[in-house]
Amino acid sequence: MSEDEKRLAVEFAQNESHVDPVAAVLIGATNGIAYKHLIGRLREYPIPKIRLSDGGGRTLLDIGCSWGRWSIAARRKDYRVVGLDPSLGAIMAARRISRKMGLSIDFVCGDARYLPFASHSFDNVFSYSVIQHFSKVDAAHAVGEMSRVTKDGGIVLVQMPNRYGLRSQMHLAKRGYSEGTGFEVRYWTLPELERLFSQAVGPTESSVHCFFGLGLEPSDLRLMPPHTKFFIVASEMLKYFAKRAPVLRRVADSVYMRSIKIA
Ligand SMILES: C[S@@+](CC[C@H](N)C(=O)[O-])C[C@H]1O[C@@H](n2cnc3c(N)ncnc32)[C@H](O)[C@@H]1O
Repeated sequence: MSEDEKRLAVEFAQNESHVDPVAAVLIGATNGIAYKHLIGRLREYPIPKIRLSDGGGRTLLDIGCSWGRWSIAARRKDYRVVGLDPSLGAIMAARRISRKMGLSIDFVCGDARYLPFASHSFDNVFSYSVIQHFSKVDAAHAVGEMSRVTKDGGIVLVQMPNRYGLRSQMHLAKRGYSEGTGFEVRYWTLPELERLFSQAVGPTESSVHCFFGLGLEPSDLRLMPPHTKFFIVASEMLKYFAKRAPVLRRVADSVYMRSIKIA
């Protein structure tokens, strides 16, 4: 971050009283149902911690950025960020919010399946709670596009649902194990995900993101009602045990797929 950005970030932190009215509504669609109770009640922006090491000025594309929480998280970690979303309203809000925070981020209107960038444009590509909503054919297109715009040796990091997660199974049972239509979540098995990412991008590893839901972030703890707090804490505990007993990974609801782009 430049000195100017650091100064503006401090000023913003001291004076974060007005939340953007578009984000105040969009928040409900940002993270499954996890933020529904915040619609119209947002007092501060929930900015999570991105699971990447410091950017050191490297570039990052955030696909399906909405009002920009992950783009902001990445910029704060010193990535040069471009956020992309098909919703003009969302990217306008993202622009206003990041500017108010004093962060320099570019936002582009576009579709994950047809990225408007030259091949090998970015060091890193990130996406959270987006590709899970695509049909499997569209998801394959989008992952192919992620690979195309990533530089050789770059990293593609994507959050995806695991079909055999405890809560995924509950949701699937509720909808009669149907594949899903429209923007409904599509559930992938871990071998399917590993095949998709390793064939399109390169060597791939999966890691647990969370249990008991798709978007549980410890950084959101103070914004959550008691029952969600309980699940966040329980998920963090299971994540701890999953490091020692990898078999638990199989029942995590949400995973990160991390691939290294090879030529
Ligand atoms: C559940 S929100 C997640 C937003 C953001 N990634 C986050 O976690 O805060 C899904 C986002 O995907 C975007 N989206 C929908 N279709 C898309 C597409 N074809 N390409 C890229 N983004 C898309 C939506 O506009 C929406 O902002």
